[in-house]
Amino acid sequence: MAAIVLIGAQWGDEGKGKATDLLGGQINWVVRYQGGNNAGHTVVLPSGETFALHLIPSGILTPGVQNVIGNGVVVDPGVLLTELGGLEDRDVDTSGLLISADAHLLMPYHVAIDKVTERFLGNKKIGTTGRGIGPCYQDKIARVGVRVADVLDEKILAQKVEAALELKNQILVKIYNRKALDPAQVVDEVLGQAEGFKHRIADTRLLLNQALERNETVLLEGSQGTLLDVDHGTYPYVTSSNPTAGGAAVGAGIGPNKITTVLGILKAYTTRVGSGPFPTELFDEHGAYLAKTGGEVGVTTGRARRCGWFDAVIARYATRVNGITDYFLTKLDVLSSLDTVPICVAYEVDGERVEDMPMTQTGFHHAKPIYEEMPGWWEDISQCKTFEDLPQNAQNYILRLEELSGAHVSCIGVGPGRDQTIVRRAIV
Ligand code: GDP
Ligand code: IMO
Ligand code: MG
Repeated sequence: MAAIVLIGAQWGDEGKGKATDLLGGQINWVVRYQGGNNAGHTVVLPSGETFALHLIPSGILTPGVQNVIGNGVVVDPGVLLTELGGLEDRDVDTSGLLISADAHLLMPYHVAIDKVTERFLGNKKIGTTGRGIGPCYQDKIARVGVRVADVLDEKILAQKVEAALELKNQILVKIYNRKALDPAQVVDEVLGQAEGFKHRIADTRLLLNQALERNETVLLEGSQGTLLDVDHGTYPYVTSSNPTAGGAAVGAGIGPNKITTVLGILKAYTTRVGSGPFPTELFDEHGAYLAKTGGEVGVTTGRARRCGWFDAVIARYATRVNGITDYFLTKLDVLSSLDTVPICVAYEVDGERVEDMPMTQTGFHHAKPIYEEMPGWWEDISQCKTFEDLPQNAQNYILRLEELSGAHVSCIGVGPGRDQTIVRRAIV
């Protein structure tokens, strides 16, 4: 039996969609275990067609793969139906998609509260995607959430929505000066939407465990990234779930001992969307170069991504907190044509050299990158098929990242396409 966890090692947008798609042909199940439609995963098929997935696992684009939205995910039913419709319009077979009965439903009031809270925070805002993710997880933890299975019992659904709105409407009206939402209207809308996805509701934890017992391969596709994890990330500038590998067992309902491989997706430089500290961020022509050459624009919100050099301190941290066994290094091609490529090997924090993540938020805010300069390369590497095909300086860059990050670089992305990947060591 093999469960593989695939996670972002930085602040998201590392290329998880491409990695899931690459492994698609060798696996039986792909499971999303946390987050919601804050995610934006891009897949470029060999035909050149590009897909952007938000809530639905990237395995949906591989025929024959069973896809699951796990219990740890928050599901906006309107977004789900729109995304399914968009895929079906492009002749993608969505019949294999199942949704955990225990996943939480993201309601219109979560979106409303996300947006007003951000506005209220002003320059202290998190820079959320405005999709209602934080408020939905708040309700889950406060035990006032609505779960997917609740659509199967109209009475329970109505009770839960009424109870939730009793307080939410006070907040919306009295604190934020917004309109109250009518519980009956919310219930009607959800029941209408449920007609489009009811047949997909399943006890997915049972099915996944049975699949593992049959020796099938399960890929747990994380969204966001390690530094956006609510426990291990740059709190409070994080998302409201656990993208880190431990979250995969919880969010899918399998035992951690079923996980045999933890594949970290690592961009050859660093990007971040939204607010929060980012030690290697560049504000000069190099930052503009990475943004332009890497096409660094958010898939979900269209916001420009902040760009910076590779940060080995956070990669080391990601290796440790996730137990990463293999890295998939993406976007190496973006670094071609630089004279030198700096790597942040450590930080200077208040005059001291620090090799590991500072313990406190203040320490991380004060962290200044200490760079090591690697000689660059000018060749177009987008058609390289093996590690040895890469220019020597590109090979040296990878070997140095590997040494600093503490895990083997098993795959290397040299372009957005599925076949633009060098496999040094097979994952499955
Ligand atoms: P995700 O959220 O982790 O799935 O990543 P996104 O899809 O948000 O952003 C990654 C972007 O990089 C997408 O546009 C991918 O098509 C693209 N991409 C992934 N791997 C590579 C690579 O190796 N080279 C290049 N040039 N682009 C890549
Ligand atoms: P993928 O899966 C990059 C960021 C937001 C914000 C913070 C909190 O495509 O890598 P939220 O809406 O989750 O409450 O926002 O997290 N964020 C992402 N950044 N990629 C993502 O997903 C993200 N999902 C959330 O920008 O800073
Ligand atoms: Mg993304």
